[in-house]
Amino acid sequence: MAFVVGNWKMNLLREDSVKLATGIREQLSRVRATEIWVAPSFLSIPEVCKLFQGTRVRVGSQTLHGEPKGAFTGEVSASMLKEVGGSFTLIGHSERRSLGEIDSLLSKKAKGVLSQGITPIYCIGETLEEFDRGLTHEVLRIQLSALFQEINSEELSQCLIAYEPRWAIGSGKVPTSEVIANIHSFIASQCGENKNTAPNAILYGGSMTGENAAEILAIPFVDGGLIGGASLKADAFMAIVEASELRAA
Ligand code: PGA
Repeated sequence: MAFVVGNWKMNLLREDSVKLATGIREQLSRVRATEIWVAPSFLSIPEVCKLFQGTRVRVGSQTLHGEPKGAFTGEVSASMLKEVGGSFTLIGHSERRSLGEIDSLLSKKAKGVLSQGITPIYCIGETLEEFDRGLTHEVLRIQLSALFQEINSEELSQCLIAYEPRWAIGSGKVPTSEVIANIHSFIASQCGENKNTAPNAILYGGSMTGENAAEILAIPFVDGGLIGGASLKADAFMAIVEASELRAA
């Protein structure tokens, strides 16, 4: 089962979120083989959850705090997300990392939300400079080893990992299929070597669209996509779902 995950970032007011969710819901009857997950802003999550109730679509958040409760001003906990119907969260998106969230914090968040029944999509990726200097494996190895220190094999098998080269996010630039294949197989082998298991899925993220989705989803070890820009319009998002369906057919 391939995953197509939409990250709506800080783009949509509640009314726009409802419109987008309704547009997606109207096109679900053809979907058989794709897990569709969406991450609206916190304030839109309750309504979007209601709209997708009884459908195959899962709703989650773009970040969460790892602790169950306490004096953490401005934060949201896993149980607060669950209370309104959410079931997953992104962790370590590069836009959070660039605000200062570091590996040791992110891996604790992953552990924390897993223990409260929320599925993390753990995002990793290198900068353009690191890519150009041939440091991608090293950067990902360090990001993953922080995660491996916090979670056990059983927990890793519940996680999704998203490879998102920072230079591909919102830029229209996508690594070649060879590069994606190489890196996804590297991530799989790191999981195998360190934890003797595979994550639930390894997603690719960064400038994925209806045009390039078929090619990207056909790459070995690519189990789906994490989509930003192209997830903000129902038709553009469902074009990626369609590519995933065709691949599964
Ligand atoms: P993009 O964003 O699809 O707009 O490149 C991907 C992401 O940030 O997850």
